[in-house]
Amino acid sequence: MTDRYAVIGNPIAHSKSPQIHTLFAEQTGEPLVYTALLGPTDAFVKTVNAFAANGGRGLNVTVPFKNEAFVLASDYSQRALRASAVNTLSWQPETQNWHGDNTDGVGLVRDLQRNLQVELAGKRLLVLGAGGAVQGVLGPLLDAAPAHIHIANRTAGKAAALAQYFADAGSVAGGGWESLVNQQFDVVINGTAASLAGELPQLPDNLLAEGAACYDMMYGAKPTPYMQWATERGGAAYDGLGMLVEQAAESFSVWRGVLPEAEPVIAALRTQLS
Ligand code: ATR
Repeated sequence: MTDRYAVIGNPIAHSKSPQIHTLFAEQTGEPLVYTALLGPTDAFVKTVNAFAANGGRGLNVTVPFKNEAFVLASDYSQRALRASAVNTLSWQPETQNWHGDNTDGVGLVRDLQRNLQVELAGKRLLVLGAGGAVQGVLGPLLDAAPAHIHIANRTAGKAAALAQYFADAGSVAGGGWESLVNQQFDVVINGTAASLAGELPQLPDNLLAEGAACYDMMYGAKPTPYMQWATERGGAAYDGLGMLVEQAAESFSVWRGVLPEAEPVIAALRTQLS
């Protein structure tokens, strides 16, 4: 039987993961089938285990199940432990257990450094938001050796707590929007859910250093409100489509041992979006 993989989330109908992984399978010649699974919010574990019982080898996990996937897994990669969340589950037939990994942060860092040529080492980074999406990427961002990471969030206490959690991995601080006054950054990453509502965090006008890169972890057919804000202030603005494809590529490599090329797939999706 052909190896089966899927993405599980709720909602899931608009997920691009089946298309991305199917393109990766064609590109690498790996024989696999990848579909989308709608996970009932009260039956995540049951759905996932039924998938394994029917020959499922691995799952990508998306909203709202990344914490439940973390609880479900029996062992973890180091990066999943740091993120306290799992976006990649691998079925281990020998032990009949799930291995949990998290490829979100690697996906973001690869898109920034490799695809967009945004340097992180020695730079002043600002991350907006302090929810699960941000916790998932802070470890790999700190591994890229920035001079400093500041986390700013609507709820200041959450940013401070997250900074504390990662304090042993580098120079990192956190606070509310007011903590941004009189600070400037080279790279600003929006990890809030504000773009989803078409909203924008309250940011000072002089936040961007000369030549700053501004990245939104969301993407869409049009520039997000955050990207528009950045462009109007002289920043180079990027959306999160490349991160989506790069995290998928890393998951594919976890499962199949071969890392697909993300760039042609990013280009194909970009054409479709526009
Ligand atoms: P996710 O998994 O997407 O990170 P989450 O854990 O619920 O979801 O976190 C959402 C993040 O977006 C939080 O940082 C949230 O700020 P609060 O911690 O203050 O709730 C932020 N967020 C959501 N809507 C926002 C808005 N309209 N403006 C600014 N920040 C917003």
